[in-house]
Amino acid sequence: MERTPLLAGNWKMFTTVAEATELARAIAAKPLPAGRQAMLAPSAPALHAVGNILRDTGIILASQNICWEEKGAFTGELSPLMLEEAGATMAIIGHSERRQIFAESNSLINKRLLGALKFGITPILCIGETLTERESNDTKSILEKQLRQGLAGAKIKTGNQLTIAYEPVWAIGTGQTASAAQAQDVHAFCRLLLADIFDKAIAQQIRILYGGSVNPANIDELMAQTDVDGALVGGAALKAESFLRIIHFETL
Ligand code: PGA
Repeated sequence: MERTPLLAGNWKMFTTVAEATELARAIAAKPLPAGRQAMLAPSAPALHAVGNILRDTGIILASQNICWEEKGAFTGELSPLMLEEAGATMAIIGHSERRQIFAESNSLINKRLLGALKFGITPILCIGETLTERESNDTKSILEKQLRQGLAGAKIKTGNQLTIAYEPVWAIGTGQTASAAQAQDVHAFCRLLLADIFDKAIAQQIRILYGGSVNPANIDELMAQTDVDGALVGGAALKAESFLRIIHFETL
């Protein structure tokens, strides 16, 4: 079963609209390699501008979060309808910065995920353990809880409707990547859980991205792992040259 690799850039709260526009143009200037997908998640104020640049390029536009309601009294939230209007077809949900800094719980993340599915926006559900959890051997139980609670009640017909991103918190923005073997081990574990939550065929279709200090020097080895289907990239996605190298990873 072939899963199309997805190389996704999470720009977090970086880039002004002018900078985002320039960066998107530089990334879109180079054609995507055959059989690969790329995605950009700019900050909300830059979504429309970047969406206009990405139209017809094949590069996917994503938001960094999403609300479950299309409109209403939800100050500070991102309506799925408004995201669609900007051209977004994917949404990052449950990023560790949302979990840690903004106290988003598994149940809140689940509401966001169900909302995205309802509106036909593909969620990228982020999961990951902290260093303390890894050191106390709790990695798998934490990931299982994040997956089961985050996906509770989710109904999908194919694995293309959902993407998972495994992002160990200790590897995000630290320059310390999980080794390719550590990533493979966790991804294979997540796929087994997905088979239990959905079914085996769907689990084989769901892309599981790795995130956490991915850069041009480690992407090739990470992508060589059977269950690593792409990357969610922060820092190295903010420069066209490094993100393009990541999109053009070499097959080992
Ligand atoms: P990083 O961030 O690549 O800068 O570690 C990844 C992420 O937070 O998605």
